[in-house]
Amino acid sequence: MTTQTRYTGLIARYQDRLPVASSTRFISLGEGNTPLIQLQNIPRLIGKNVDIYVKYEGLNPTGSFKDRGMTMAVTKAVEDGSQAIICASTGNTSAAAAAYAVRAGIKAFVLIPEGKIALGKLAQTLMYGAEIIQINGNFDAGMSLVKEVADHAPVTIVNSINPFRIEGQKTAAFEIVDELGRAPDYHCLPVGNAGNITAYWKGYSEYAADGVCENRPVMCGYQAAGAAPFIKGEMVDEPETVATAIRIGHPQSWDKAWNAQKESGGWFDAMTDEQILAAQKMLSQYEGIFCEPASATSLAGALQDIGNGKIAEGSTIVCTLTGNGLKDPDSAIMQCKETHPVTIDASLDAVKKAILDNMA
Ligand code: F0G
Repeated sequence: MTTQTRYTGLIARYQDRLPVASSTRFISLGEGNTPLIQLQNIPRLIGKNVDIYVKYEGLNPTGSFKDRGMTMAVTKAVEDGSQAIICASTGNTSAAAAAYAVRAGIKAFVLIPEGKIALGKLAQTLMYGAEIIQINGNFDAGMSLVKEVADHAPVTIVNSINPFRIEGQKTAAFEIVDELGRAPDYHCLPVGNAGNITAYWKGYSEYAADGVCENRPVMCGYQAAGAAPFIKGEMVDEPETVATAIRIGHPQSWDKAWNAQKESGGWFDAMTDEQILAAQKMLSQYEGIFCEPASATSLAGALQDIGNGKIAEGSTIVCTLTGNGLKDPDSAIMQCKETHPVTIDASLDAVKKAILDNMA
């Protein structure tokens, strides 16, 4: 008989590498342990000899990578006696904060830009019962308000300026190395507030320092063209993109992300909304993987840089797909508006005809 330990989340799995004690109460929803899926059809389609894997973070409990950071941030907030957490968010952080606060039995306050968060994220945050504060302003305005208010109210900030968020999120790099037996040659990520690229680099660097892997990947950070401070080299005041999750002009982890780029020999680049949506559709229609628009920025960038030779043939590439496609049903339906589902009589003949007409 084989004895198998039940998977109970990333803190339990990686507790030796995280700032927790044996007495710590882990606030977990079983996050992490997400699939690393090798793309089969897209490499063939582009005619390139590359191994592309996607780390499908949309399969976390609230549907995004934020759960990795939130399990740690809320665990530590509770350990420190906090009764309430607060964040600014483009939607995913707020959903994760709300869920983990419920799990912990504390309160969550979330500041979101009015009208600019995807429907699924709003639905989740409402259902989890967070205190939602909509602002007439973007994520960056919300972020600066959160930083200010935390000095005046008993709330713990759970945005990625909270170092425990980075600790939790670094475990995605551990999982990739544990699964591949090495670090990839390139790691491609969408970049918004820049916490995640910081976290991956920390994870790879810790594993390399301890000899768990020999190499560290080249880090490739991709932003939406209308919200691309790392490509412009300065903050952007009016960020705009269809990829609302990364509609951010003043990234908080500015220096740490530049450090990851420099140390890894990597780069930042900007993807147009058209490139982002095309990559999202490719993943759905050629691989059966549905991610939200912002997430596809990683693959859009990888495809561009495989195409222009910056990413060499023969390489192993990991693209993080940060959030689930179900988060943003509106943008998916908009993109498929030319595809009209047929409506027929509820009869065998009509169904048979509909099938035969479409077999070609
Ligand atoms: N992809 C998705 C789906 C996101 O939700 C975010 C950030 C990112 C990528 C960028 O990650 O900020 O670490 O560089 N979303 C935050 C939020 C800002 O509020 O949900 P980053």
